[in-house]
Amino acid sequence: MKATHWWQNTAVYQIYPKSFNDTRGKGTGDLRGITEKLDYLKSLGAGALWLTPVYPSPMVDNGYDISDYCGIHPDFGTLADMEELIAEAKKRGMRIVMDLVYNHTSDEHPWFLESKKSRTNAKSDWYIWRDAKEDGSAPTNWRGIFGGSAWTYSEERGQYYLHTFAEAQPDLNWENPEVREALFAAANFWLAKGVGGFRIDAITYIKKPAVFTDGEPDAADGMTSVHDMTANTPGILDFLHEFRARVFDGHDIFTVGEANGVTPEELPLWVGENGVFSMLFEFSHVLVPYEGGECWHKALPWPLTKLKRALTASQHATAKEGWFPIYFENHDRARSVNYFFPKGADKKLAAKALAAVLFTLRGTPFIYEGEELGMTNVAWDSIDAYDDISSHGQYALALEDGFSKEEALGFVHFNSRDNARTPMQWTAERHAGFTSGTPWLPVNENYRTLNAAAEEKDTDSVLHFYRKLAKLRETIPALLDGVYEELLEENEQIYAFSRTLGKARIKTAVNFSTKDAALPADFLRGTRLAGSYADAPTTSLRPLEAVIYEEEIQ
Ligand code: GLC
Repeated sequence: MKATHWWQNTAVYQIYPKSFNDTRGKGTGDLRGITEKLDYLKSLGAGALWLTPVYPSPMVDNGYDISDYCGIHPDFGTLADMEELIAEAKKRGMRIVMDLVYNHTSDEHPWFLESKKSRTNAKSDWYIWRDAKEDGSAPTNWRGIFGGSAWTYSEERGQYYLHTFAEAQPDLNWENPEVREALFAAANFWLAKGVGGFRIDAITYIKKPAVFTDGEPDAADGMTSVHDMTANTPGILDFLHEFRARVFDGHDIFTVGEANGVTPEELPLWVGENGVFSMLFEFSHVLVPYEGGECWHKALPWPLTKLKRALTASQHATAKEGWFPIYFENHDRARSVNYFFPKGADKKLAAKALAAVLFTLRGTPFIYEGEELGMTNVAWDSIDAYDDISSHGQYALALEDGFSKEEALGFVHFNSRDNARTPMQWTAERHAGFTSGTPWLPVNENYRTLNAAAEEKDTDSVLHFYRKLAKLRETIPALLDGVYEELLEENEQIYAFSRTLGKARIKTAVNFSTKDAALPADFLRGTRLAGSYADAPTTSLRPLEAVIYEEEIQ
C-alpha cells in the first residue's frame, strides 16, 4: 500500500532526556536542553521526537515508574517547558511523541497507595492482588523481567501484588474499566497539548491469563519468566481496540507499541487499517543472540542469516498492510556497533553499515540518540558502577547459574542498558559538553574524539552519512514505497536487498563481516548513491562496506 501519512516519510529520533542535554548544571538533561538542539535534530531529517518518560517519577527505572501521568518531573522542567518544546518543534515541522507506560505505575502513584491500603477501598481492584500460597510464599513462581520474584508482599494489605518489572512497578488491572478510563484520559490530556503520537510501553503484558499457575522452572532459582506466562495473552487486542477508538482515532498522529512477544507473522493483527497501532516494535531482529527469552548469559553466536530472516519476515508482514518501525538501538539495548558486529570491527564503518540498512528498508527509521555519531558501549569495572536495574538483575541471575563475577560482569558489559544511556557526546569539552555539573552517569571516555562537534567538521563522519541517507530517503520515491526483495539470501557475510518502484530499483548491500565479501558483478550496475568507502567497490565488498545503488530496470 502506498505511504500517505506524514510519519511514513520522515525519520523519528528517540531522546533519552536524562542523558541528552543539561541546561541547568544539575547533571541530568532537561526539556529546555531538547529545545536548544532542535535545529541539530532537524538536520537529521527527524519529523518526530520520541521522548522516553518525563513525568513525575521516583526514578527507580528512570521514569518508567510513573507517579503522575499528566505532569512533568521537576528535573526535566515544567509543563510550560513542555508546551514550549511542542511549539518550537512545530515551528520546524517536527512533533513530540510521548511515552505511555500503561502496564504499570510507580508504587508511589496515588492509585497504588490507595489500592494497597485494604481489600475494600475504592481502588482495591486497580492492581493485581492475590493471596499467598498456603505456605505463605508468592502466588506463583514467576520471575520478573528484571530478576527476582514478580510478586511482592504488602504487609499493609496482607496480599501479594504482581509486577512484571521491578517491585516499584506494580501492574495495573486492565480488566477494571475505571483503570482503562483513567489511562485513556491521560493520553487525551497530551493529545490536547498537541503531541504528534505515542510510543506505548510494554504493551504485550497488559492482559493476564484468567488463571495463574506455576510455570516449568527455567533456571536454578526454580522460577519461570513472567514473560513466558503472560506476554500476548489472548483477548489483549480487545483492550487495544478500545484504546484506539477512545484515544487515537480521528487524530493525525502515529502510535508505536513496544511488543516483545509478538511475532512478525502476527503483525497484521496489530498494525494497519484493522489493527490497533500504526507500527509495532517487535524484537525478533534485536534478539538474534537468544533462543528463548533475553537471558544475558545464554547469548549464543548467531549467523547473519538469522538477522536477515528476522528483518525480511517483518518486511513481508507489513508489505501490504501496516508499517514497520526500523530500529537497531533504543534505551534498552547496547550500542549497535558493539552488538551486531564482530569484536574489533571498525566502529565508524560498522555505524555506517547499519545506517545504510536503517534508511533503506521499508518503514520509518528510528534513530536513537548518539547512534548517528556511532556512539559505543562502555565497560565499567564493577557492577556497582551500573545504574541500570536490569543489569543488576541479570548479573545476579548469572551468578546464581554458576558463572564467576568476571563472567557475569562481561555479560553486563555486552548487554547493559547503560551502554545506551551514557550522556550524549556533543563536544570534546569537559563531560562532552552535556553538563556543566557532574553527569548522573559517567560520559564514555571516547568523547574527546567521538562527538557531534568533531563529526560536524569531518565530512566523512557517521553524522554526515546519516544526513546524506536521510536526504536520499526523503527524495527517492522507491525508498518510501518500493517493494522489498531480499537478495543473496544464503550469504553469511552480506545483507542485500532491493526496493523497486516502477522502473526504479534501489539496491543496498552491506558486508557485516570484517573480511572481503564477493559480490555478483551485476549487483554493481547503475549509479552508486552512497557508500561507506570513498570509492566504489569492484568485485567484492571490503570489510564492513555498505553501498546503495540505483538502477533503471529495462
Ligand atoms: C520497557 C521500557 C524499559 C522499561 C520497561 C518497564 O521495556 O522500554 O526501559 O524498563 O518497559 O517499563
